[in-house]
Amino acid sequence: MSWDRQITIKSPEEIAIMREAGKINAEALAAAHAVIRPGATTADVNAAVEEVLKKYGVYSPFKNYPGPYPYPASSCVSVNDELVHGIPNPKRKLQQGDIVSVDCGTVYEGFVADSAFTAPVGEVSEQVKKLLYVTEQALFVGIAQMMAGKRVGDVSSAIQKFVEGNGFYVTRVYTGHGVGRQMHEGPQVPNYGSAGRGMLLRRGMTIALEPMVLIGTPETKVLSDQWTVASRDGSYTAHFEHTVAITEDGPMILTLLDDGRNPWQVETGHILYHSI
Ligand code: MF3
Ligand code: CO
Repeated sequence: MSWDRQITIKSPEEIAIMREAGKINAEALAAAHAVIRPGATTADVNAAVEEVLKKYGVYSPFKNYPGPYPYPASSCVSVNDELVHGIPNPKRKLQQGDIVSVDCGTVYEGFVADSAFTAPVGEVSEQVKKLLYVTEQALFVGIAQMMAGKRVGDVSSAIQKFVEGNGFYVTRVYTGHGVGRQMHEGPQVPNYGSAGRGMLLRRGMTIALEPMVLIGTPETKVLSDQWTVASRDGSYTAHFEHTVAITEDGPMILTLLDDGRNPWQVETGHILYHSI
């Protein structure tokens, strides 16, 4: 996926609106997280998201998003080998040992927030626990680079080094992106790249950073529903995403809950490689 889209610089007032969008979005993700258990369907997860959006009278920018055909739901719910863009399905029941990724967006007063997590369904293997932890941490390793004066390549390269240093792969095809009045704006922020290269980051940029991590190879395929992206080798994949503003005081995560907590929780316990 490649594009050359407009970069928009947001005022502090606009960032404050995006923070409100992000709080609603975080509440929707937390509600989705709460229904994840063996026996729940991916449509149940989407319904939990929609209930929160409805409560606030807002909508998801995913609904009817242009693609092979308009995207049919308010969230993407992707299971196991499915990396992103899984379509909620009332027939797809979650089972013990699965992992499920939930990606959702919110439009509030004309501005978009976009965020995602991957969570285990009951007990998962040690390797899969590590996949979740590495992917979540890769998001925060990337966010730590999101300061005015740094470049897109600093963020991309930090994510890539962290993920590959821990033995996994990042997709070369799907990327993070600027976000604002549009869900997808410039700059494009890949999960791989070279430090010191790429566009200069400026105060007022708002970016949805989204490491997408695979176990065996970086290769993906699109399933026959034409939306769902899965690993080519069938191995498990993970995806975490936050919408982040670059402010005078550094990165500000816009998609945390009102009390500052993450809308998800992932088990840890691994000692990880870190390049710093
Ligand atoms: N959050 C996603 C992204 O950043 C997914 C949107 S795809 C859609 O690209 F079709 F569901 F909108
Ligand atoms: Co996104």
